[in-house]
Amino acid sequence: MNGRLIVFEGVEGCGKTSQIQLCQEWLQYLGISVVVTREPGGTALGLDLRRLLLKAENKTIFNTTELLLYAADRAQHVEEELKPNLEKGNIILCDRYTDSTIAYQGYGRGLDINLINVLNLIATSGLESDITLWLDVDIEVGLSRKRSSGDIADRIELEAIAFHRRVQQGYAQLQASQDKIVRIDASLNKEAVQRMIQTTLSDRLKAWGYV
Ligand code: TMP
Repeated sequence: MNGRLIVFEGVEGCGKTSQIQLCQEWLQYLGISVVVTREPGGTALGLDLRRLLLKAENKTIFNTTELLLYAADRAQHVEEELKPNLEKGNIILCDRYTDSTIAYQGYGRGLDINLINVLNLIATSGLESDITLWLDVDIEVGLSRKRSSGDIADRIELEAIAFHRRVQQGYAQLQASQDKIVRIDASLNKEAVQRMIQTTLSDRLKAWGYV
């Protein structure tokens, strides 16, 4: 596969969506063919799964059910969206991927990380990101950004602060153990965060032969 998979990760309100949009505009300006997608919800089936997973009224979803629904969304996404675009040589900007499941279902819910790794392997058939940008922001800052956006809180956002804190610790541990995960200080303003992302990606784009 000729394309590259760039994943954005982080806690609620870390600013992934606006950073991905700015990044897409920058890559298009450079004349690079780019596709933006997300998990959950990067396919038609995935959109239905996303609604089920995030609907605040769905209080009876058990942790294992939740884990399997995220995995089902991913399996469909990898086959329908990621692999075909990588084969075309596109750069993919993906809002969340396998590390979200480790952080949220592993660290957040306390499910077995070894089992999650196996499930991620099944869902992705081994497709890994080329680089993962972890947008690191304090959970209090992220959650208050979300609240002031006026959007109605979803099922996961409504979790207790201790859950979000465990998710954040999960990301920190993942980043400490993998060179591929680059920490971006997402507490700064939008423009400064985007500058850091572009600096990080410029080197990779050169190494990958895009510029
Ligand atoms: P977002 O796309 O707005 O970030 O929302 C997706 C939510 O789903 C977010 O709360 C994180 C959560 N999530 C998991 O818990 N596990 C996963 O594997 C993924 C992809 C997302």
